[in-house]
Amino acid sequence: MAKAGRQIREKLKLIDTVIEVIDARVPVASRNPDIAQYTAFKRHIILLNKADLADPVQSERWKAYFEQEEGVDAVLLFNAFDLKDKKKLVETIWKHNPKEKNQLKCLLCGIPNVGKSTVINALIGKKKTQIGNKPGVTKGQQWLTTPDGLMLLDTPGILWPKFEDETIGIHLAWIGSIKDTIFEKENIAGDLMKFLVARYPELVEAQYNITTNGRTVPEVFDAMAISRGLLLRGGDLDYYRACEMLLGDFKNGRIGRITIDECPEA
Ligand code: G4P
Repeated sequence: MAKAGRQIREKLKLIDTVIEVIDARVPVASRNPDIAQYTAFKRHIILLNKADLADPVQSERWKAYFEQEEGVDAVLLFNAFDLKDKKKLVETIWKHNPKEKNQLKCLLCGIPNVGKSTVINALIGKKKTQIGNKPGVTKGQQWLTTPDGLMLLDTPGILWPKFEDETIGIHLAWIGSIKDTIFEKENIAGDLMKFLVARYPELVEAQYNITTNGRTVPEVFDAMAISRGLLLRGGDLDYYRACEMLLGDFKNGRIGRITIDECPEA
């Protein structure tokens, strides 16, 4: 972790604007609060990325919340695949740091899987090879010039999630940022179902054509497995497939637009 921090500091020497990428569904879990150390004396733009998968009401609250944070110049609700959002980001970068074309240097930062390389690809306007999540890519580092005249460091600053409590790990597992080897799939899916039934019951009901009211979590899984015909040979319900289906549907946004980390009241 200390090494990752050193490497970001090294990259930052030349940087004008830091673009911090957060997953809009988990603005707490996908953020490393150490970022504030790196953005002092820089322009700091926060992208609440994957906003297309997040609850729009919660996203607006989070946007307002982060806009209050000291040192933050702008916060954008962002979908890395939407060209309109890309245009807005470019305008925002220039607005907060007017410079000559090809002289404004930007660095994207964030934990793995929040969408940093997708945002870089959107800014440069073409498909680039996947950017690895390993920290420490210092050799052969290059500046990419975007068609809008920005300069981007081609490898983003990798931050690591801050595991202050177990909840952060669980939330990252729900969005697929932490692999199932760390937490058992059934446990992750059970916790996710409990959360969804409490906070977004109507979305679960619509997705699986079931009712949730008055049902325990195992009963909701029963209903889901029956509704989807998830049966083992012999007719028993296939809970493993039900867990996999729930996690996959959630991760890909099929259940609906859901925010896991609730914004504190202003
Ligand atoms: P990283 O560099 O920060 O590690 O993230 P990367 O760009 O590789 O993006 C991780 C996954 O998130 C990719 O899915 C990518 O397509 C998806 N993604 C990025 N931005 C957005 C966005 O704004 N909206 C949505 N809906 N998806 C976004 P993937 O290749 O399928 O990977 P995975 O989901 O299987 O890990």
